Amino acid sequence: MKPMPLVAGNWKMNGLRASQAELDALNAVLTAKGAPCEVLICPPFTLVAAFAAATGDKVAIGAQDCHAKQSGAHTGDISAEMLKDAGAGYVIVGHSERRADHGESSEAVRAKAEAVLAEGLKPIVCIGETESERDAGKTLDVVLGQLAGSVPTGSTAANTVIAYEPVWAIGTGRTPTVAEVAEVHTAIRSALVARFGADGTGFRILYGGSVKPDNANELMAADNVDGALVGGASLKASDFTGIIDAYRS
Ligand code: PGA
Repeated sequence: MKPMPLVAGNWKMNGLRASQAELDALNAVLTAKGAPCEVLICPPFTLVAAFAAATGDKVAIGAQDCHAKQSGAHTGDISAEMLKDAGAGYVIVGHSERRADHGESSEAVRAKAEAVLAEGLKPIVCIGETESERDAGKTLDVVLGQLAGSVPTGSTAANTVIAYEPVWAIGTGRTPTVAEVAEVHTAIRSALVARFGADGTGFRILYGGSVKPDNANELMAADNVDGALVGGASLKASDFTGIIDAYRS
């Protein structure tokens, strides 16, 4: 059975309290038209609790990172338990900006994902190759290596989401071809089935990197693409609903 698609917005370091107007607009559209897939917004930490309190039943709220420990002497960090307490349902882990800006290894990402699972929240585990890795023909090696290293043993189709985000496609307006997306997603699917058996067929594998309303239809139709992780185009409800529309028949 094909999993229920998920369209997730990653607001990154954008958004102030006034930005709740975009969440309200998104909720209004999905309440009026219905939601054809699962929809998630991951605002910065400062807005998680307010957004969770304000959202309706059509839009879930998540966070963009967490610490691997539940509490303790880690100044400036936020734990999965805190995010659960604030009302988050999902936590993005291992985004390429965290891997690059904060030197997060796949081992560190896996520890974060385990912490998310331990709270009963769902990790969205991000993987993806750089442009030079793709040019060197190493895309599948890199992506499957990150997958194996970052996804916890306790992951299941029901509790974990994978996001394939080629680093060179993030925020650049460039995307792989549909055939290239399908090739990587199909390789990820095969690796999940090899590791998790039949349950591997049910994991949602999101594509991320310059998803926009005008390319969402073709990207979401690619083999083994079960949704999108959207950065820039998730900040405005009008753009984001245009992407969600890819799942309206
Ligand atoms: P983008 O970002 O849609 O702005 O390319 C995607 C992401 O980083 O999750």
